[in-house]
Amino acid sequence: MRRIAVTVNGTRHEAEVEPRQLLVYFLREQLGLTGTNVGCDTSSCGACTILLNGESVKSCTLLAVQADGAELTTIEGLAKDGALHPVQQAFHEQHALQCGYCTPGFVMATVSLLAENPKPSEEEIRHSLEGNLCRCTGYHNIVRAVQAAAGS
Ligand code: FES
Ligand code: FES
Repeated sequence: MRRIAVTVNGTRHEAEVEPRQLLVYFLREQLGLTGTNVGCDTSSCGACTILLNGESVKSCTLLAVQADGAELTTIEGLAKDGALHPVQQAFHEQHALQCGYCTPGFVMATVSLLAENPKPSEEEIRHSLEGNLCRCTGYHNIVRAVQAAAGS
């Protein structure tokens, strides 16, 4: 076992993890943050996307030990004082989800995109989110939600 310390959604956690433990399972099973979903386990779907030191990463592609010392943000960390984050609100208003399984990953990828590029073009949005898969929506309303969150 290895001891790690991470800050997740502003709270510091110290934990013992197996060296082979994937970060997504550490978040879900050890910290109980089950908003981050597992769709494929093989870095294809983006359902497990979180922010690591502000950058979006697929948390099934990292080991928990690789996050030692990092600041992580998961979907649970976005809403403040009972108010949805603007990206969450935009997904809600633009009907950008159906089953919702992919949604935490899309929202986190969008937060990262807009931090880097506050006014992305439609092409830039589609390109940026191509690592996230959705089986339900056909993507159009997701793109609209990102545009709405960007105020465009
Ligand atoms: S579960 Fe991580 S990319 Fe699919
Ligand atoms: S809303 Fe169902 S997979 Fe995207």
